[in-house]
Amino acid sequence: MIHKVTLIPGDGIGPEVVNATVRVLEATGPKFEWDSQLAGADAYAKTKQYIPKELYESVERTRVALKGPVTTPIAGGFASINVTLRKKFELFANFRPIKNLPGIKTNYPGVDLVIVRENTEGEYSGIEHEVVPGVVESLKIITEKASTRIARFAFGYARREKRKKVHAVHKANIMKLSDGLFLRCCRDTAEIYPEIPYFEHIVDNTCMQLVTNPYQYDVMVMENLYGDIISDLCAGFVGGLGLVPGANLGHECAIFEAVHGSAPDIAGKGLANPTAVMQSAVLMLRHIGETDAANRMHAAIEHVYRDGQKTTRDVGGKVGTSEFADAVIGAMETSKEPVAASRSSC
Ligand code: NAI
Repeated sequence: MIHKVTLIPGDGIGPEVVNATVRVLEATGPKFEWDSQLAGADAYAKTKQYIPKELYESVERTRVALKGPVTTPIAGGFASINVTLRKKFELFANFRPIKNLPGIKTNYPGVDLVIVRENTEGEYSGIEHEVVPGVVESLKIITEKASTRIARFAFGYARREKRKKVHAVHKANIMKLSDGLFLRCCRDTAEIYPEIPYFEHIVDNTCMQLVTNPYQYDVMVMENLYGDIISDLCAGFVGGLGLVPGANLGHECAIFEAVHGSAPDIAGKGLANPTAVMQSAVLMLRHIGETDAANRMHAAIEHVYRDGQKTTRDVGGKVGTSEFADAVIGAMETSKEPVAASRSSC
C-alpha cells in the first residue's frame, strides 16, 4: 500500500526539518507518495494566495498532512496559516505529548503529560475590529459544541490510554461566561467518565504548579490560547521546542506538525533540531495504522539520544539537521532488536 500524504514544508527552518523527516520516514518501510504544497509568504510570491487552492484540494484528497512551521507576521499582515487550516478542516483537537527523551538532561526528568488544546475558537477566532481610534475589540468565542468535543476527546484519550487523570485549565473566575461554559462542558463530560479523576486549575496557578511540580498532571485540557502558551512552557521540561511533537486532529483529516515555529534566528543554517517534526511523524504513522514503522522510528530517535553522540546544538550536541537524520536512519538500519510497542503519546 502507498500512503498519499500532503507535505507542507513551510518556511524558515520548516523545509530543513521536514526534508530530514521525510528521509527518515522513507527508511521506516512503508511507501509514501508526497504531494508537496506551498503555504504562507512563499506561496503568495508564486500564486498570489497564502493558501493556494491546490493545498486545500490536496488535504481534502489525502486527509493527512505533515507540515513544517509557517511564519505569521506580527501585528498586521496575513492571518495565521496554521489557524486558518485548523479551522477550515475542523482540526478541533491539538494533541501535544510532553515526555522526556533519554540522554537529555533537564531539571525535570520523568515528565509524561499530554496537552489537549481546543484548536478552532477561543481568542484565536480572529474576530477583531477597531471600535474607535485607540480602542480595539477582540472577541473570544467559546461554544458548547467545541468545548464538549474537546473535553470528550481528552477523556476518551485518557480512557483509551489508561491515563490517570484529567485537569481542565481555565480562567472562569474572571471570564465567567466564556470559560464558565468551557468548564461546564468539561464537568458534564467528566460525569460520563466516572473512573477518571477530574480536576480544575486556574491557568495562572497552573503555570506555577507546572514549574514546581509537573508530575501532578497527566492529561490537561484547555482552550486555544492557554494551550498555545502552556505547550511552550511544557516544552521547557523536556529540553525545548526542538523536541515536542503535535497533531491537529479532526473527524475527516489530520495535520501533523511540531509545536515550534519557523525559528528565523537559525533558519537556513542547517542547525535546527528535526526531532519535533520527526516525533510528529511518529504520531502520523500511528494515525495511518503503521504501528511497527512508528515504533521503529521512535526507538531509533531514542537510540540516538541515549547514545548522545549525534545530537543538535539546542540540546547541547554538535551535529546539524541532516546529520541527525542520518543517525536516526543508521539506528533503524543497524537495530536488530525487536521494537517494543510504546504508548501512543509518541
Ligand atoms: P519559534 O518556535 O520559531 O522559536 C523560538 C525559539 O526556539 C528560537 O530561539 C528558535 O531558534 C528555537 N527553536 C524553535 N524550533 C527549534 C528547532 N526545531 N530546533 C532548534 N531550535 C528551535 O518561535 P517564534 O520565534 O516565536 O516564532 C517564529 C515564527 O514562527 C512566528 O512567525 C510565529 O508566528 C511562527 N509560528 C508558527 C507555528 C506553526 O507554523 N505551527 C507555531 C509557532 C510559531
